[in-house]
Amino acid sequence: MTAQHTLVRPYGTAAIAEAAALIASGQPVAVPTETVYGLAADATSGEAVARIYAAKGRPSFNPLIVHVPDLEGAERIAVFDDLARDLARRFWPGPLTLVLPLKPDAGIAPIVTAGLSTIAIRVPAHPAMRALIAAVDKPLAAPSANASGRISATRAAHVLATLDGRIAMVIDGGATAVGLESTIVAIADGTARLLRPGPLTEADLGIPLSRGSGKIEAPGQMSSHYAPTKPLRLDAAVAAPGEWLIGFGAIKGHANLSESGDLIEAAANLFGALHKAESQPLPKIAVAHIPQNGLGQAINDRLKRAAAPR
Ligand code: TXA
Ligand code: MG
Repeated sequence: MTAQHTLVRPYGTAAIAEAAALIASGQPVAVPTETVYGLAADATSGEAVARIYAAKGRPSFNPLIVHVPDLEGAERIAVFDDLARDLARRFWPGPLTLVLPLKPDAGIAPIVTAGLSTIAIRVPAHPAMRALIAAVDKPLAAPSANASGRISATRAAHVLATLDGRIAMVIDGGATAVGLESTIVAIADGTARLLRPGPLTEADLGIPLSRGSGKIEAPGQMSSHYAPTKPLRLDAAVAAPGEWLIGFGAIKGHANLSESGDLIEAAANLFGALHKAESQPLPKIAVAHIPQNGLGQAINDRLKRAAAPR
């Protein structure tokens, strides 16, 4: 990277063409998806993907999600059984990532999967990410567009907060609609396992899910993954001295995830609220109780990690 600052381009035909040229030349570009902003590079080029790891400061054992235009594109890269195909047909394009056996001759750079024999793959719904995949005409590896261990970005400004000057360009598509990273389900031997709770809940998926075995299977599930730079206290009813309180429903707070107590609205606002809390002069963050139903499960998963000691 030679640029002092990262170019910010509003989403449109010109931005997609410029981004596709950068990606073709091996440079990662930040792009909105319906979940969070991703940092995208050509998944068939080990060098390009290495620049993602370098820009994020990400440990190389942490594998990336590959984004493809459709199920057909996914089947060229991963082995689908009936269960995987059923989930793909029902939820793609959308916020579902499937972990499946990798086809070894698919041309995916080994650094993408960090040497695993499985690959995480999804078909995104956001028009900017879809246009970029089409323009580059390659599968795109894209982790969330934030420095490793920091809060995911739901706006272009959040991307700049940790990656300015470390990447060539960000496509600004405004705030992302969903605001939480995709649900990750691993399929093996005809059974589905939930590796990361996300926007699609178990009820949405409507299939029996077994839980992780307890060992770290999605490395992003390390306990302090989603980390603000300040201590964070959960289930707060009022702000203690020095705390910036992120409220929910009746607990008003300095900022509020959803005054009407809507968990979908809260999910969309979560990372923005954490970014805002980080930039306040108050040294600590507190967050109101979030109910554990529906999207609350994924929100509380992220909050627990953000609050974990490190
Ligand atoms: O919504 C999303 O999923 C966003 C957008 C940009 O698509 N991406 C995202 O990527 O959240 P990332 O890299 O921040 O999280 C990917 C997660 C990590 O927890 C990683 O360890 C896990 O997927 N993962 C990737 N490949 C895997 C594999 N083969 N087996 C198990 N877990 C895997
Ligand atoms: Mg991430």
